[in-house]
Amino acid sequence: MSYPQNRLRRLRRTGTLRRMVRETFCRVDDMIYPLFVVPGKGCRREISSMPGIFQLSPDLLGGEAERVAQSGVPAVLLFGVPDDKDERGNPACAEEGIVQQGVRALKKACPDLAVITDVCLCAYTTHGHCGIPRGGEVDNDETCRQLAAVAVSHVRAGADMVAPSDMMDGRVGVIRRALDSEGFAMTPLMSYSIKFASAYYGPFREAADSAPQFGDRRGYQMDPANRRETFREAAFDAEEGADILMVKPALAYLDVLRDLRERCDLPLAAYNVSGEYAMVKAAAARGWLDERRVVVENLLAMKRAGADLIITYHALDAARWMREGKF
Ligand code: PBG
Ligand code: ZN
Repeated sequence: MSYPQNRLRRLRRTGTLRRMVRETFCRVDDMIYPLFVVPGKGCRREISSMPGIFQLSPDLLGGEAERVAQSGVPAVLLFGVPDDKDERGNPACAEEGIVQQGVRALKKACPDLAVITDVCLCAYTTHGHCGIPRGGEVDNDETCRQLAAVAVSHVRAGADMVAPSDMMDGRVGVIRRALDSEGFAMTPLMSYSIKFASAYYGPFREAADSAPQFGDRRGYQMDPANRRETFREAAFDAEEGADILMVKPALAYLDVLRDLRERCDLPLAAYNVSGEYAMVKAAAARGWLDERRVVVENLLAMKRAGADLIITYHALDAARWMREGKF
């Protein structure tokens, strides 16, 4: 039995009816806003390929934290852009390192704002890889030990959650054990669990000055062609103690989010990455599409696919649109 008994347009006729039968929602509580911290004072530098997103020095982070808290967005994801780098990424675990300073500034200004730190080495290594190379390859186990030291130093500085983004095997377990043995057993870990080797990270590499100087990241990030492998990545991370799993990028991988949502009970985050942001901003700047409507549609698509949380450079705009009832 179909038409004419059934007419799907009956419930689409008015805004009120559509509101009543709506299936998916975005909440401000779902949003996580990325921030970039750089050394210096009074430094506020816009990233050219990410209009509206700035690198900020620690003294300006307090004000930014207040702006985020005001918007209702509950959490930030902090990236450091250091001025010193070495072969092993040691500056990533310095007590006075740039992320450590940033965390302290954010927590001082807004103790209730959740500060999540990105744990990786690529912005801190001279060669720009996410780990420590040996014989032309990134050494997995040596890198895990270094990442654990980075994570512990972030939490010591006051981070509420750590998010390793390196894609080494076993790093979730190694970091978890290090946190536990340093007295941080209650600090949650969000794993960049399903991270594809993607060209959508292009603008971010300008923002974080983290482009690899030789080769690429395909020896550790996932092949965009693979689906079954995502189940194994997710299962390993869950077993090793991850509290939240992330899929990254988001828009070209919504099928992966859906698959994971059906197979796994952990909270899922989608990372709406820099290239996805840049495409929307560039087209909107030319008047080629309506920025707000496209962003609303994209974020809803991530939720519909199964995301609980969305890491997005649009978070503050989205929060405003939600407040204004335009979402
Ligand atoms: C570094 C890292 C990257 C992103 C987050 N953490 C880049 C990369 O792996 O090359 C990408 C974020 C974005 O594009 O918005 N490990
Ligand atoms: Zn990295």
